[in-house]
Amino acid sequence: MPVISDPSEFNEEQLYVDLRVALGLPLYLKCEGFNFAGSIKLKAAREMVEAAERNGILRPGSVLVESSSGNLGVALSMIAASRGYGFLCVTDSRCNRASIRLMESLGSHVHVIDDPDADGGFLGARIDYVRALCASDPRYVWLNQYENPGNWRAHYRTTAPEIARRFPDLDVLFVGAGTTGTLMGCARWFWQWRRPVRIVAVDSVGSVTFGGPPGRRMIPGLGTSVPPALLDVSYIDDVVRVEEPDTVHVCRRLAARGFMFGGSTGTVVSGAHQWLTEHGRRDLTAVAIAPDLGERYLDTVYREGWPTDAIEHEAVGALARSA
Ligand SMILES: Cc1ncc(COP(=O)(O)O)c(C=O)c1O
Repeated sequence: MPVISDPSEFNEEQLYVDLRVALGLPLYLKCEGFNFAGSIKLKAAREMVEAAERNGILRPGSVLVESSSGNLGVALSMIAASRGYGFLCVTDSRCNRASIRLMESLGSHVHVIDDPDADGGFLGARIDYVRALCASDPRYVWLNQYENPGNWRAHYRTTAPEIARRFPDLDVLFVGAGTTGTLMGCARWFWQWRRPVRIVAVDSVGSVTFGGPPGRRMIPGLGTSVPPALLDVSYIDDVVRVEEPDTVHVCRRLAARGFMFGGSTGTVVSGAHQWLTEHGRRDLTAVAIAPDLGERYLDTVYREGWPTDAIEHEAVGALARSA
């Protein structure tokens, strides 16, 4: 049993759910939500913070600032609290209320961007705000998860070898794409070690990551409105795109079997289901990565009437703003 004094020291690395029982799907789900930050983003946050400390960029008195859809923000809040840094998270109106409350409870400040960019996304506006802050005060340190190699290296060092140790005969790995840190870290590791594993990226419809047209996305975590700088498609074998209603459906089916996972897990499982069905294969050893758990999504994915009511509310707000 581990005994810790720093909350970032603990992370459950060996838990998988066999989805043959819950969903009749030949897929093992690697659970990454069992740590004090509640998500896989703890790995990237810790890697980027420790590199910045080693390089002398992050010093006593520094204030971290980062654009996050929620989970990286919670992870950085936890690390900032335990190491004595300030932290300001720049997020947008799709961020879960629970994530905002968590960050504030950990002592962080949260700035919510309400107005989307011209393309309907929020990322450009979030990044502009972060850049302006950094230009205004040298105490601000932006780790920049969108370009920081620590984001993918965390998964090259930990996530991919953890999976390979448990499944030495792995055939296919399904990874959701947000900043693509998890995807690129895993893809690079399996390529580097010459493992014959198909890497399948799972994205949401409306995301521009793999060249699709931009569209409305309500679930934070996966997908983006600005092409991710970390992505190198030459490492990726296949891409599957998932509609948000399918995400919600899978999350609720899993919850009906007692497994409450977050929105992007529903997307990744739905994408894996699509891919395995299309390829007609039940004999493959397949793993998917589940980035977080379901509690942060009680007011969205798990609420009856969502997202229809949220879309109507958004439309009324936009009308009021334009009046
Ligand atoms: C819930 C959730 N799923 C998936 C991702 C995407 O992970 P990555 O940024 O490594 O692509 C994130 C990133 O914030 C997330 O919070």
